[in-house]
Amino acid sequence: MRVVQLDRAFGLENLAIAERPEPTAGPDELVLRIEAASLNYRDLLMVRGRYNPRQALPLIPCSDGVGEVVDVGGAVAGIEMGDRVAPIFAQSWQHGTPGAKELHSTLGGPLDGVLAELVAVPAASVVGVPEHLSDVEAATLPCAALTAWSALVTHGRVGPGDAVLTLGTGGVSLFALQFAKLLGARVAITSSSEEKLARAIELGADRGIHVPSEPRWGRLARGWAGGEGVDHVIEVGGAGTLSQSLSAVRPGGTISLIGVLAGGKEELNLLPILMRNVRVQGVFVGSRAAFAAMNRAIAAHRLRPVIDRVFPLEAVRDAMERMALGRHFGKIAIELSR
Ligand SMILES: NC(=O)c1ccc[n+]([C@@H]2O[C@H](COP(=O)([O-])OP(=O)(O)OC[C@H]3O[C@@H](n4cnc5c(N)ncnc54)[C@H](OP(=O)(O)O)[C@@H]3O)[C@@H](O)[C@H]2O)c1
Repeated sequence: MRVVQLDRAFGLENLAIAERPEPTAGPDELVLRIEAASLNYRDLLMVRGRYNPRQALPLIPCSDGVGEVVDVGGAVAGIEMGDRVAPIFAQSWQHGTPGAKELHSTLGGPLDGVLAELVAVPAASVVGVPEHLSDVEAATLPCAALTAWSALVTHGRVGPGDAVLTLGTGGVSLFALQFAKLLGARVAITSSSEEKLARAIELGADRGIHVPSEPRWGRLARGWAGGEGVDHVIEVGGAGTLSQSLSAVRPGGTISLIGVLAGGKEELNLLPILMRNVRVQGVFVGSRAAFAAMNRAIAAHRLRPVIDRVFPLEAVRDAMERMALGRHFGKIAIELSR
């Protein structure tokens, strides 16, 4: 079978199609024929050797995909040939709070990922996906969507009338926008691009903030929220954006710390966190149980993920380069059957 792998060295230029033997299902396993995959910023970092420079190679990258069950282990109950499922991001994390074992069971590093025609996974490590979604749409759910869901629902308990601020128009942030609207919240979104903001408003955002024109966007978001500030911030920038997020959030509000696109280290004034009783909550994707709950909500509301562009497997480098350029709006996907 064909796979995409990094053979001996990191770097986009080293991503190549290779042949590997076809897997068979062990007693508790399934084999999936992967139909589609989607990219996360983490995949780009992993391929470049920046996520974990000690990651063993060869590695099949990418955590997020959807496939059809084509082989079922003898001890598996409740899943049948032909079912359409997505492997979960952290393969050992069923529910509750993760320990080190669960946190290190992630696809696309350290475990081989989904850029392969066939993938064997434990039957306990998949979820069914909403029927109304195409394969490409369903392939966007395991990491970006679940991270946004965990931030807003599992940790944040966002509800009707709350004010949510989400940063940028990438995969996580657009899912956060869609879920926050589904929960009845008001949403402000930032972007470096006026054009992307116009698209976010079409998707339901109540307020767009153009960061290059509004360097003190935190204060602006606080004013927009009314009262004492926003209830919840989806923080994907990290150290480089946290001071503005702290200026946006209300006393007692939550900042979901999800990414470090604007840097992981910077001198920061931590006083507002304690003096204003702010909760800074680290978020690591989510459990299988949370994925299933999210899928029920997506199905009930017929929510559709935002797809930026779809590439064939052979063009995986072009897909990763598009992500690196940052011009995308929503999810970049790979269709394996194309
Ligand atoms: N903790 C977790 O479990 C988890 C899960 C998923 C993702 N993440 C992390 O979350 C971040 C976003 O991931 P993603 O997959 O959504 O990425 P993505 O699709 O590549 O989206 C990134 C978007 O963020 C905006 N952005 C870029 N640089 C920025 C900066 N310096 N400051 C503020 N915004 C910036 C850009 O939006 P505009 O073009 O509109 O400006 C860009 O399109 C990454 O750091 C990723 O590693 C963490």
